Amino acid sequence: MPQQVKGVVATAKNAPVELTTIVIPDPGPGEAVVDILTCGVCHTDLHYKLGGIGDEFPYLLGHEATGVVSQVGEGVTEVAVGDRVILNWRAVCGQCRACAKGQPQYCFDTANATQKMTLEDGTELSPALGIGAFAEKTLVAAGQCTKVDDDVDPAAVGLLGCGVMAGIGAAINTGEVKRGESVAVIGCGGVGIAAVAGAALAGATTIIAVDIDPEKVQMAKKLGATHGVNSREQDPIEAIRELTGGFGADVVIEAVGRPETYEQAFYARDLAGRVVLVGVPTPDMKIELPLLEVFGRGGSLKSSWYGDCLPSRDFPMLVDQYRLGRLDLDAFVTERIELTDVEAAFEKMHGGKVLRSVVEL
Ligand code: APR
Ligand code: ZN
Ligand code: ZN
Repeated sequence: MPQQVKGVVATAKNAPVELTTIVIPDPGPGEAVVDILTCGVCHTDLHYKLGGIGDEFPYLLGHEATGVVSQVGEGVTEVAVGDRVILNWRAVCGQCRACAKGQPQYCFDTANATQKMTLEDGTELSPALGIGAFAEKTLVAAGQCTKVDDDVDPAAVGLLGCGVMAGIGAAINTGEVKRGESVAVIGCGGVGIAAVAGAALAGATTIIAVDIDPEKVQMAKKLGATHGVNSREQDPIEAIRELTGGFGADVVIEAVGRPETYEQAFYARDLAGRVVLVGVPTPDMKIELPLLEVFGRGGSLKSSWYGDCLPSRDFPMLVDQYRLGRLDLDAFVTERIELTDVEAAFEKMHGGKVLRSVVEL
């Protein structure tokens, strides 16, 4: 029997979001219905609402979520009813070119749920990032669910579903930060601070947090940054070099998505240093660099997409790190809110004082 539940829907470009009744079909083959426990409010949800990601309104927003599996469809072996899960954007197909190359994190032929959730009148919903979790229940592919232990705060570990994973993964997966290395993170919003935490987890000994907002730098220090740089007051390239014996950092992570910070990332790396790009630029942005700067310094340039994560490998491992007290996910939860507060949470994003608002159901 299809179920009617409440969900937060963006009906049209720029319109305020609405808490409305949505219809969840019974799970088909390979699908699961998940009763949502928590869902973080991410910038990407705001971009959907503003029409910046697509024009497939209405969107069922929310994608940074934990829940409990309440129904499974035919042939589901990945999870069972009653499992606590963290949701991820894509169920990898296992067969496309990326999967065959052993890089399922780049899978382009994803096997997300094929049935659609709808409004009461039958209008099909587009779930944000293939999830749609600002709702009492959502329908996903079983492959989008990663089972995790249920003895930890869901609001905290749920953040691994998106922003925090993107940042931690930029450090541990894409940047392959090693014990004793120096890491500079340019831009310490939710993603950059998570990159700081990831660098700390990996054992980096010099972790430099750069931001134009001194409060963000302070926050980064709580999560493991050993040094802070206010890039309004100091040239970050010079500051990073000074703090690394005149060399530059082994790994520089850019988590802003602007030309000037992209440029800083290149110049702030050590010889053979790695530059990791996490901040998403807009299509019109360009930088100009002397080729000798790219060539002569060696090293590598990588962009990091979803922290190059493999949910089945990384989510349980990071939940363990959290339980052991090595990863302070609680620090990312600024406020706990209700489904009715999502619009207000979007407003607060502009203020820049909130790391994460988390909806609890
Ligand atoms: N130099 C340093 N820091 C800057 C600069 C700058 N020129 N401009 C902005 N910042 C800082 C802001 O002060 C803020 O702390 O960058 C941070 C950006 O953080 P958020 O807006 O909270 O964004 P976040 O969610 O962390 O995402 C950052 O990563 O995944 C991508 O799409 C995401 O491009 C975005 C980026
Ligand atoms: Zn997100
Ligand atoms: Zn694939």
